[in-house]
Amino acid sequence: MKKMKLLLSLASVLIVASMILGACAQKPAEEKGLAVGIVLPTKDEPRWIQDETRFKDALTEQGYAVEILFSQGDPAKEKQNVETLISKGIKVLIICPHDGTAAAAAAEAARAAGVKVVSYDRLILDTDAVDYYVTFDSVAVGAAQAQYLVDNAAGTGLPLYLYAGASSDNNAFLFFEGAWNVLQPKIVDGTFVIKNSPEAVALQDKATLTRDEMGKILGQITTNWDFNVAKNLAEANLTAATAEDKGEVFILAPNDGTARAIADAFAADTDVTKYYVTGQDAEKASVQYIIDGKQSMTVLKDVRTLVSDAIAAAIAFLDGKTPEQTHTYNNNVIEVPAKPSAVVTVTKDNVKAAIVDSGYYPASDFTGLE
Ligand code: BGC
Repeated sequence: MKKMKLLLSLASVLIVASMILGACAQKPAEEKGLAVGIVLPTKDEPRWIQDETRFKDALTEQGYAVEILFSQGDPAKEKQNVETLISKGIKVLIICPHDGTAAAAAAEAARAAGVKVVSYDRLILDTDAVDYYVTFDSVAVGAAQAQYLVDNAAGTGLPLYLYAGASSDNNAFLFFEGAWNVLQPKIVDGTFVIKNSPEAVALQDKATLTRDEMGKILGQITTNWDFNVAKNLAEANLTAATAEDKGEVFILAPNDGTARAIADAFAADTDVTKYYVTGQDAEKASVQYIIDGKQSMTVLKDVRTLVSDAIAAAIAFLDGKTPEQTHTYNNNVIEVPAKPSAVVTVTKDNVKAAIVDSGYYPASDFTGLE
């Protein structure tokens, strides 16, 4: 009898213990699910679908269920997305703003609700409500694009066409700054002649441009990150240019989507005998364009790195810690802590090694790969 009682109480201790353990095992999973919300700028560009896919891959692997919402290029929708996530109880917001300044209100709403704000890829401007910035080295992206053009330039008086991203995106300025640092000395020494921006020509003797000066140039060469705007602008530039402004041309295109649109416009002009065109993001369509010789280069920004940095930052905040910092970026109000990641230049020569052998995309996504 005594033995029986002992066995029974042992069993109940075991049951209670396993219930406690079970509850403990479940609780963090539930907390994980509610803790982080992600807001991305638009589904209309493959770049942000890349980020969505890489976030889902990484988070599923780590057992986190988070919600990813898209703002479709609309700051009002973006703010609504943030409010939805706040109401669901998130503790960390990872947000890539459509418009850096307009997103300040959304960041402030999150801050007011006690949510940590991680600015993702693009910096939120004009507010102190940004806790951390995960980013690539965007000045290095522009420099890599320009360096490619310089490395392929032989002779003098070579036609140079400049294009840029959206003025509402702080990155557009950083990319242009990085490119200008490399191109400007080569404009001054006569290697390149700018063909499509009188504002850039007027400023070409200046090694360093102010934000306002860059803004003036961007006003003439912006694609607004939109393929159609890019195509129309390139066509308008080609219509305005003479046959002497063409021949072998050098094109600074800010990213892959706009690069393909601009490349198609230049390829269709019979006075253009050869063109070099830059890009960034390693979008699959552009990797194929590079293999096919229709786009000259891209800059691989390994989104897996950005995603894992963002998740690491979120986990640090959830644990009451501070994410790793090597750098700060001024957003007009504060110095935002950050740890920028390196980028890789991809051309036809290293496309297999950089994109396929590295495991970024499978070879089966492409044709004609050697
Ligand atoms: C990103 C680029 C992207 C561009 C257009 C920039 O802020 O850094 O990777 O191509 O926005 O969406």
